[in-house]
Amino acid sequence: MTLRYGIIGWPVAHSKSPEMHNAGFKELKIDACYERFAVEPVNLAKQVSVFKEFLSGWNVTVPHKTAIIDFIDVLDPVAEAAQSVNTVVNSGGKLYGYSTDGYGLQRAVEEAFNFSFVGKHILFIGAGGAVQAAAVQFAQANCRKITILNRTLENAQKVAAMIHHLLPNFEVSVGCIEAELDDAKSVDLIIQGTSVELKGDAKIEFAFEKYRKDCVCMDMIYNFETPFLEGAKAHGMQTATGSEMLLYQGAKAFELWTKFKAPVSVMREALL
Ligand code: ATR
Repeated sequence: MTLRYGIIGWPVAHSKSPEMHNAGFKELKIDACYERFAVEPVNLAKQVSVFKEFLSGWNVTVPHKTAIIDFIDVLDPVAEAAQSVNTVVNSGGKLYGYSTDGYGLQRAVEEAFNFSFVGKHILFIGAGGAVQAAAVQFAQANCRKITILNRTLENAQKVAAMIHHLLPNFEVSVGCIEAELDDAKSVDLIIQGTSVELKGDAKIEFAFEKYRKDCVCMDMIYNFETPFLEGAKAHGMQTATGSEMLLYQGAKAFELWTKFKAPVSVMREALL
């Protein structure tokens, strides 16, 4: 019997996940298919009870990543801390919830810069949903310190609380987006996680000169090189877009479902 998987979101038509996962299933000769399901927020509860009957697992995207938690039986600690689930495993009607978004970003950074997280100081610009999942994941990856700068200080504090929910003694510092850090020279990795430059009509002002040139810089925006990355490059930093983030969050979901190592090169090609 063909196993069925999918992605739920509202909207969901833009998602490239079906191409990526179907290519992975084909490569490993797994009899499975992956589809898009547009689920309106008001219908989430009703739809989840239907999906439980015929999907072996599914991805969750905006706006359901937090709301889906109500229907999960066993929540992974990272997903619980970040209050975000993007991958559901359906084991005979029992639902397991995971967040692979942070893992995806971690792998993308490791591969792009040959970067090890152990003992490092990481700076996030922004405090939205994607940053929440990533900050919790990075704290677990044994980095030394996380700093979060955001326009709304309360949202940065919320991310700090999420990290402390999982690791109470972890060193976290928060500030407003234009704050000057005393320890800027100790930052090893900068993650740009705001939507400011998404539409191409606004720009983040950032004092790259206060940071080391061997600090590396990734933007969560994945489909083009942002002015932020151009600024980092002009300062001599190594940079990368977030394009591989999507690939590795998907690869991890694929592995949770199939228990096979994901064929990442085939999945990457399918995304492109
Ligand atoms: P996602 O869930 O995709 O990460 P989000 O939750 O909408 O997106 O988060 C967007 C991020 O961009 C937030 O950090 C937001 O800052 P606030 O917490 O202050 O809202 C940030 N952001 C959006 N527009 C911004 C702007 N014009 N200037 C500065 N920060 C901005």
